[in-house]
Amino acid sequence: MASTAHPVNTAPNTPPATFEELYGHAPEGEWAAPGRVNLIGEHTDYNLGFVLPIALPQTVRAQARRRADGVLRLWSAQGDAAVTELRVADLAPGSVAGWAAYPAAVVWTLREAGHPVDGADLRFDGDVPGGAGLSSSAALECAVALACNDLYGLGLTAPELALLAQRAENAFVGVPCGVMDQTASMCCRPGAALHLDSRDLAMRQVPFDLAGAGLALLVLDTRVKHDLGDGAYAALRAGCERAAALLGLPALRALGPADLPGALARLPAELRPLVRHVVTENERVTAAVAHLDAGDLAALGPILTAGHASLRDDYRVSCPETDLAVEAAVAAGAHGARMTGGGFGGSVIALVDEDAAEHVAAAVTAAFRAAGHRAPRTLTAVPAEGARRLS
Ligand code: GLA
Repeated sequence: MASTAHPVNTAPNTPPATFEELYGHAPEGEWAAPGRVNLIGEHTDYNLGFVLPIALPQTVRAQARRRADGVLRLWSAQGDAAVTELRVADLAPGSVAGWAAYPAAVVWTLREAGHPVDGADLRFDGDVPGGAGLSSSAALECAVALACNDLYGLGLTAPELALLAQRAENAFVGVPCGVMDQTASMCCRPGAALHLDSRDLAMRQVPFDLAGAGLALLVLDTRVKHDLGDGAYAALRAGCERAAALLGLPALRALGPADLPGALARLPAELRPLVRHVVTENERVTAAVAHLDAGDLAALGPILTAGHASLRDDYRVSCPETDLAVEAAVAAGAHGARMTGGGFGGSVIALVDEDAAEHVAAAVTAAFRAAGHRAPRTLTAVPAEGARRLS
């Protein structure tokens, strides 16, 4: 969520330092955790609703070696040249700035939960674009969580590690995110979308064979991140929780479409659009999963576009750049398109016929040029594997 996540890739002038050069010994292993795009189900996770993310092939990789002296050393090929050195005993929320806060947060959270984690030497490298709404921060957290789990023999499951990584971001970094990004990074499988119920973390891998259906999923990174992002996210979450409290519900998840008119009538005007988005968005996830189960992947398109309209008009987390990318993609023949992630910039996904991918990407780029925006960065998303050990 936070824009201070794993730094944006910059082409280094010199080859990046190896683990041995940095720390004088070899790593014990290497772990990878992916970024994600969410197909549908936005701003539903902290309302205990449904989400449907896929993992990206792009990952954050962590090489790691245990230390027994309480020292945590961190270095990233995408960071500045310096090694950050911390003492695990001194870690406290707010005590670490920048990208190093994310790995430190995970170590702190594991120790807070009573797990016997000591120091470590960690070296990161990765290709998840930072600040693009593709969960580079969750990827960083999950790579560290899995490395610690394996190195220290903690025996935690992937969903348990995801919850710990979310707690790290909430309690240490101070971002009140839901559980989607970390669960996607830990639990997604190749060729599938993850249908996750954020209330009890029940999950199902829903087959999502884009190539088999002659389709492709474009990710258009608008390369904008509007500053209001993090504060606005917390305010929206607080608004949803206030609405649930006013309705006497544990969370907005408890509302179905049939309850909506009655619920809206009982709420102050400013909360109604938030509640309408959450209820209709949960419905869109359910409809999307039904189409995927029926093997009709293209039917996802109009659901994506309707989801974007709801985020734009009701939840108000889109921005001119994401709106333009959606409009231009649909006008160029995409089956549907929407912003993905928290909003206020970041990326748009567009579901396209495989042979139309280049045309749609070019049309969005041309629309950005005409509007005076920087050209978007384009990726093609293939549902990839969740966090794993590489060596
Ligand atoms: C960010 C958060 C997630 C989720 C999305 C919006 O990515 O980290 O928990 O709330 O925004 O769906």
